[in-house]
Amino acid sequence: MPGDLSPSLPSTPAPLVDPFGRGITYLRVSVTDRCDFRCVYCMSEDMAFLPKRDLLTLEELDRICSVFVSQGVRKLRITGGEPLVRRDIMGLFRSLSRHLDAGTLDELTLTTNGSQLSRYATELASCGVKRVNVSIDTLDPDKFHRITRWGDLAKLMAGLDAAQRAGLKVKLNAVALKGVNEDEIETLLTWAHGRGMDLTLIEVMPLGEIDGQRIDQFLPLSLVRARLSQRFTLTEIDERTGGPARYVRVAETGGTLGFITPMTHNFCESCNRVRLTCTGQLFMCLGQEDAADLRAPVRASASDALLRSAIEEAIGRKPKGHDFVIDRRHARPALARHMSLTGG
Ligand code: 5AD
Ligand code: SF4
Repeated sequence: MPGDLSPSLPSTPAPLVDPFGRGITYLRVSVTDRCDFRCVYCMSEDMAFLPKRDLLTLEELDRICSVFVSQGVRKLRITGGEPLVRRDIMGLFRSLSRHLDAGTLDELTLTTNGSQLSRYATELASCGVKRVNVSIDTLDPDKFHRITRWGDLAKLMAGLDAAQRAGLKVKLNAVALKGVNEDEIETLLTWAHGRGMDLTLIEVMPLGEIDGQRIDQFLPLSLVRARLSQRFTLTEIDERTGGPARYVRVAETGGTLGFITPMTHNFCESCNRVRLTCTGQLFMCLGQEDAADLRAPVRASASDALLRSAIEEAIGRKPKGHDFVIDRRHARPALARHMSLTGG
């Protein structure tokens, strides 16, 4: 922590540092590419999923996460697909919580579509999870069904209630969609803040084939922000998470509003994260194709030595940044892989 001059304890490993001097303290882990929704900006309706045999087992996921923690990762985010549809996923949370107890991990958290939260909220809290990110793009049940194709807003609402009852801090994510929820963003904002939940808006990113064209969905957040500024007093706050979000305080509601603008904003210089897919591919950058295979080293031996050096080697080639563009001429996604593989 800058400004913190207290000597670090011997049990606190120094983080791995990439070629551009960025310490890697944050690992995002996609535990499944499957999902019980089919959001229009994320997947096609007949999305083909990976064969189950290609997936890392929960034990392998635990080993890889634990090696990262021993190499200085302080924050783990479990994602998907929808992480809570993976069978026995609570076993992984339970097991990873030992690093929180040991003080070697600061935060264990997840990103979820909320469909299973009413079932798991209490157990997540008992595993040391303090915060969850939940996706919600609209408060209108019909529109929700149109966007997610398979989702049920009532279940998500029950999930949010359960999460708050269990003492979890909830942050909502909403993808801003042109002509779909753009007229609802103010409502979402006041509703979320009124319930003590922060809100982050996300621009559509060109990841993976979908049924329509993303250029039709793309709504620049600069426009959304300009519109919101006419009704609300937005004050820039210096909350940096090392990620793509920029935050403002909304004077009228007292809540925080985030903007994730990968298309128009370069945030790479402070990037502190890498992403593990459910098949053991480590992506050093969300916007690049290069990945390191960690499945082979984790399966090759029961000792963690190979895994450890594969991770060091991978961080040693983390690229400087990305260059997303929604390709208008070719109408193809910038990257073939879906968000559900690498987990946002
Ligand atoms: N562009 C932007 N956001 C996306 N999400 C999934 N796919 C995309 C995409 N192509 C969002 C989900 C969720 C978050 C993890 O990422 O809605 O809120
Ligand atoms: Fe599932 Fe999330 Fe993709 Fe929607 S955006 S289909 S909830 S993984």
